[in-house]
Amino acid sequence: MQHFLSIEELSAEQLIDLIDLGQSLKLKRKINAGKYLPLAHQCWGLIFTKSSTRTRVSFEIGVRELGGAVMFLSDRDLQLGRGEPIEDTARVLGRMLHGCIIRTHDHADIARFAELSEIPTINALDDDEHPCQILADLLTIKEELGGWEGRKVIFAGDTDCNVARSWMWAAERLNFELVLAGPKEFQPSAEYLGKFQSGNVRTEDDLAEAAKGADVLYTDVWVSMGKEEEASSRLDTLHPYQINQSIVDLAKPSALVMHCLPAYRGKEITADVLESHAGTIFQEAENRLHAQKAVLVRLAEERQGLA
Ligand code: CP
Ligand code: NVA
Repeated sequence: MQHFLSIEELSAEQLIDLIDLGQSLKLKRKINAGKYLPLAHQCWGLIFTKSSTRTRVSFEIGVRELGGAVMFLSDRDLQLGRGEPIEDTARVLGRMLHGCIIRTHDHADIARFAELSEIPTINALDDDEHPCQILADLLTIKEELGGWEGRKVIFAGDTDCNVARSWMWAAERLNFELVLAGPKEFQPSAEYLGKFQSGNVRTEDDLAEAAKGADVLYTDVWVSMGKEEEASSRLDTLHPYQINQSIVDLAKPSALVMHCLPAYRGKEITADVLESHAGTIFQEAENRLHAQKAVLVRLAEERQGLA
């Protein structure tokens, strides 16, 4: 693995390896502190053109815990924000940094950066995918349910957003059922759904029907970054897809309620459901750190020819 750009590009074996390594790094965090430093003498850049709390902080901490230094580069400061092409930015930064973590809109920009910078590049969310999030979510499911094999996961709401798409690729690679419960206008196109051949991914207009017997109820914001102009119509159309107690009651009693955060209480999830499942939801947030450290380690190993 030279870059970490999407779940789509990963095999089942790579996904499982990253989750296992993330879990091991989590368990050994105290023992490893100051001793396990595979990123020693390296500096990783974070180029973010969208807001972030969890992703930025977990990567900054993760790189540092692995012995490296970080440089946060927002588009307000970079010449990128004034129109310098990504191709030029990549060829400059690739000569100085050891790796780069990018959050932006267009997936093609991250792929182009990876190609031209020739340094390990990580997708920290784009309009197409949020692969780091799904690694952390799968780690959480492994910790809480023992694994995802044969489980039924419901993704409710905007089922064509970046987080949903990464879920689709995870279901395609691993053995679990993913039901995308959202209104027709927020379901992936038939063309996109046609990419999934495993039979593990399906859509469902009725959230209550989808939720029956579910092992995991997952949701994300209804207005993703960049979609703010559509906010009022989205909120109206997506309202029937809220995760509330009546939906939770239809799932298995042991079901996890998950949210990638940030959460908007009273919109995609009610405040009472969020607080009742805060243990899982904030565990997911913490797992961003451990799962992403696994990605950093594997990329560094590949770079050093150790993989
Ligand atoms: N879940 C997630 O990616 O959070 P941030 O936008 O705060 O990074
Ligand atoms: N779908 C959301 C995820 C936020 C972590 C967004 O893109 O804004």
